[in-house]
Amino acid sequence: MRLLMEEELFPSTPGKVKIERAHAFNRQFNRCFASTSTMFLWTLFLIALTVSYLSFKSFVDTGTHYFNLSAVSPSSRAWGGLQWEKHVRTSAQIRRSGGGSGGGASVLVTGAAGFVGFHVSLALRKRGDGVVGLDNFNSYYDPSLKRARRDLLAKSGVFVVDGDVNDARLLAKLFDVVAFTHVMHFAAQAGVRYAIENPASYVHSNVAGLVTLLEACKSADPQPAIVWASSSSVYGLNDKVPFSESDKTDRPASLYAATKKAGEAITHSYNHIYGLSITGLRFFTVYGPWGRPDMAYFSFTRNILQGKPITVYRGKDKRDLARDFTYIDDIVKGCVASLDTAGRSTGSGGKKRGAAPYRIFNLGNTSPVTVPELVGILERHLKVKAKKNVVEMPGNGDVPFTHANVSRARAQLGYKPATDLDAGLKRFVKWYLSYYGYNRKTGM
Ligand SMILES: *[C@@H]1O[C@H](CO)[C@@H](O)[C@H](O)[C@H]1NC(C)=O
Ligand SMILES: *[C@@H]1O[C@H](CO)[C@@H](O)[C@H](O)[C@H]1NC(C)=O
Repeated sequence: MRLLMEEELFPSTPGKVKIERAHAFNRQFNRCFASTSTMFLWTLFLIALTVSYLSFKSFVDTGTHYFNLSAVSPSSRAWGGLQWEKHVRTSAQIRRSGGGSGGGASVLVTGAAGFVGFHVSLALRKRGDGVVGLDNFNSYYDPSLKRARRDLLAKSGVFVVDGDVNDARLLAKLFDVVAFTHVMHFAAQAGVRYAIENPASYVHSNVAGLVTLLEACKSADPQPAIVWASSSSVYGLNDKVPFSESDKTDRPASLYAATKKAGEAITHSYNHIYGLSITGLRFFTVYGPWGRPDMAYFSFTRNILQGKPITVYRGKDKRDLARDFTYIDDIVKGCVASLDTAGRSTGSGGKKRGAAPYRIFNLGNTSPVTVPELVGILERHLKVKAKKNVVEMPGNGDVPFTHANVSRARAQLGYKPATDLDAGLKRFVKWYLSYYGYNRKTGM
């Protein structure tokens, strides 16, 4: 499994070249057998070949440590069959008339069991669009939370296919069964610090997975319009605030940011070559009910309730870190408006027939809050005092602050963030306590 993945990551390995050389060597060997001096030279060559093979092998073995894909995709997949196709078709059915593109949309949502994908799928379904989800349910964070989201989606009529965006056969099948008008692509390896542990999963999901998806979209007939999740992290070490879409984004501070930046470049090339309509959304620290447990506000809540200390990072010169926290409902509105305003893809069957839109939008809240302020709000809503360990931020990918300029999204999408951090965290805490069945009295 691991070796197979490496083959996919590095399709033309030096090893293959050596195997071909070894075949050529065999033929040469027969011809030159008579000459002992030639044979001596060939023996030397053979030894050199063995040594280089062994060193290559040890390189690959060391590499295995880096290319740990165990958190990327569970091994067993079940898709296909008549029953499965029926579920997909029913889920994709549009149940409304009117709307952005005239008759409602039929949308493939990748990462549908993830935080943003889940909320966007629900919102689209609620207004009568057809929605088919796709998610690989990987174990980057507690998969039971993803399954709970999936079960809620199922209740409102959204079927989530258990599969990976890297599975080109599955994608071709999905486009075969449904003529999707839009793809909303949220599947990604998230998190900044996890890249230290598992860098390959970022390349696998955010680069290879994205290309596999774009290949399927460009070949589809009709081609769907694509709205996808980039990230505010592309602004990296910029210190001109607020962050505007026209700012340079060439100083990423993490591998995560670098793969999202790569995604913006990759989608641009597909827009240019194949006429795919592309909208990239730079999300600013999205939070809220059903959020991601790896994010600070979530783990702070857990630790504060359990009486465990929390680690609060502080920047150089004792400056507090600040984030432009954006409430999920605002993000959902921005995503849905992006879908409604996305122009059509122009190509079909892999051929471009004219220019298609390529858009990038910031979706933020425009009012950064420092991490100590965030902790204060949580303490108030949880009615528990936090035990704080304040430490200097290690240089592992976090940027000191983010702050969105959303005037482009306001002008073109009618985007207007409406929930401040206090109101949003209040709703998050309410959800957290009920989801985890937390009893304030017993502390269990
Ligand atoms: C691979 O990653 C998983 C999940 O992060 C971890 O549990 C496992 O120990 C890692 N394996 C190796 C060989 O590093
Ligand atoms: C915000 O972005 C808009 C459009 O992208 C730009 O014209 C404007 O100058 C920016 N505002 C600030 C304060 O940077």
